[in-house]
Amino acid sequence: MGAPFYPTSAFVVEKMLSLAGVRPGSIVYDLGCGDGAIVVAAARDYNATKVVGIEQRQRLCSIALRKTRHLRNVAIVNANYDDIDISEADVVTLYQSASENARLKLKLVDELREGARVVSHDFGIPGWRPTGYHVFKEGRRNQRVLVYVIGSGTPS
Ligand SMILES: C[S@@+](CC[C@H](N)C(=O)[O-])C[C@H]1O[C@@H](n2cnc3c(N)ncnc32)[C@H](O)[C@@H]1O
Repeated sequence: MGAPFYPTSAFVVEKMLSLAGVRPGSIVYDLGCGDGAIVVAAARDYNATKVVGIEQRQRLCSIALRKTRHLRNVAIVNANYDDIDISEADVVTLYQSASENARLKLKLVDELREGARVVSHDFGIPGWRPTGYHVFKEGRRNQRVLVYVIGSGTPS
């Protein structure tokens, strides 16, 4: 089961997107986009060419839609991300539990091209070797950001 809603802070969103190398030209998918914090930053601050946020909860989708209505490069999809093809993504962002990340491995490896990046907040992807493991202090909390590159230490 996917994680309940808990938003990534602006500070960590910025770390995730810069560590994943999001830039103009990038296509970014946020699996479980919540209220759209990552989507807004990728589209507005990083000028990604296309950003897709997928969220199963209608109420959160409405908030994300409201926050992104002025951004032409964003699509918010009210769906289970299991049902959405993510193969065009250059970067996938995740803030899910370790067990959900483990379940998602097959989808990520099946659908993403070699060299695509997966960046995960707090929870690692069991059995995968990150190319980057970063810990940031935010207030009293340690925030972890893990970066993976498909085809490099990412068995399904
Ligand atoms: C921890 S929140 C992260 C929200 C956002 N990505 C962020 O970092 O601010 C996880 C989100 O994933 C959504 N979610 C969980 N399972 C999902 C699924 N199978 N399909 C779509 N959304 C899902 C939840 O509703 C929740 O909003």
